[in-house]
Amino acid sequence: MSDTVPGQPLLTPARLGDLALPNRIVMAPLTRMRADNPAQAPTPLHARYYAQRAGAGLIITEDTAVSPQAVGWADTPGLWSTEQVRGWRTVTDAVHEAGGRIVAQLWHTGSLSHPDLLGGATPLSASAVDPRQLSVTATGRKPTVVPRAMSRADIRQVVADYATAARNATRAGFDGVQIQANYVYLIAQFLNSATNLRTDEYGGSVENRARLLFEILDSVSEVVDASRIGVKAGPMHESGPFAAHQDTLPTWEYVISRLAGHGLSHLLLMGATHDLTGTALEELAGDGMFRHFRPLYPGTLIANVDMDRERGNRLIAEGLADLVAYGRPFIANPDLPARFAAGAPLAEPDWNTVYAAGPAGYTDYPPLLPALSTTAS
Ligand SMILES: Cc1cc2nc3c(=O)[nH]c(=O)nc-3n(C[C@H](O)[C@H](O)[C@H](O)COP(=O)(O)O)c2cc1C
Repeated sequence: MSDTVPGQPLLTPARLGDLALPNRIVMAPLTRMRADNPAQAPTPLHARYYAQRAGAGLIITEDTAVSPQAVGWADTPGLWSTEQVRGWRTVTDAVHEAGGRIVAQLWHTGSLSHPDLLGGATPLSASAVDPRQLSVTATGRKPTVVPRAMSRADIRQVVADYATAARNATRAGFDGVQIQANYVYLIAQFLNSATNLRTDEYGGSVENRARLLFEILDSVSEVVDASRIGVKAGPMHESGPFAAHQDTLPTWEYVISRLAGHGLSHLLLMGATHDLTGTALEELAGDGMFRHFRPLYPGTLIANVDMDRERGNRLIAEGLADLVAYGRPFIANPDLPARFAAGAPLAEPDWNTVYAAGPAGYTDYPPLLPALSTTAS
């Protein structure tokens, strides 16, 4: 990474592989439910929204399903059809014209989906274990169901679907892809010994539970150079079978150490999202997540969760992160880097319009200074 300057290392340039970034402020992936059309394709509204945020060093899109079967949240976009590729092309063109860079976050929800979202079909997962979460369907949040354990053929298909989506991302003009590997979704369902009860080569040992992730990485690497592939990772989730248990930390230590050998664009590591006191992850509280995993991942590390300007600058200055991702702050501050540069106050989002339809609360947050809205500083 290039040298940082004292004061605001967030505003210094960085490189992700051959991609030059004017600053180290990353827009974290944010599902916004605006793909409310039958094709689940991005629209000109998406293009406007992302172009408004092109001052970020890097934009990571909202979660984007790799296949119809991967969909598990109403009104979210995909990257399997020609219409979706065309929609995303308008987004990437708009971001590039505004001077930005954008990668597609690839997603399979597995058991977090619901028959309502799958034409009545049962969602797929590692094993027939109800994740005991809520699935966001077109008619509201519904309890998840017991999924169908995937056959080897199902696994092969999913691995191939990721490669197809990655190829489509390239056709759509993206600067790379990010694989969503954490939270409660399919890859995490395989990694987690509480949701993966398989007795074949995809279950049991941590090597086996991580096999799906690394097969996906290998297949995506065949169509996108590894230096353009990132992974979002980390042990954070607090409910149901995803609550931390004795295997959680060793699993993520294994995964993150092994990712380090893949020459990736970046690791986006989520910090603590809730009070970890008394849990198996207590040592990861506060900056503990980054202190713990930084030595295991010498590549480009993007720190995330509850960052403000001061904490982001400090983590980079302390060498605990190379870049910093902001999620919620980008909702109401399309010109977040310009605000950081100016030391300006941040606007608060209206949570009623975060998961909603149309431009209200999506593209109507004004930049502080219109002239600065698409520049890094
Ligand atoms: C409205 C909303 C939507 C989100 N959608 C996604 C998503 O699509 N994919 C993902 O990996 N994380 C998603 N996240 C998590 C964010 O990327 C980020 O990790 C989290 O908000 C913590 O960062 P923050 O404290 O800067 O908001 C979402 C968060 C919010 C608030």
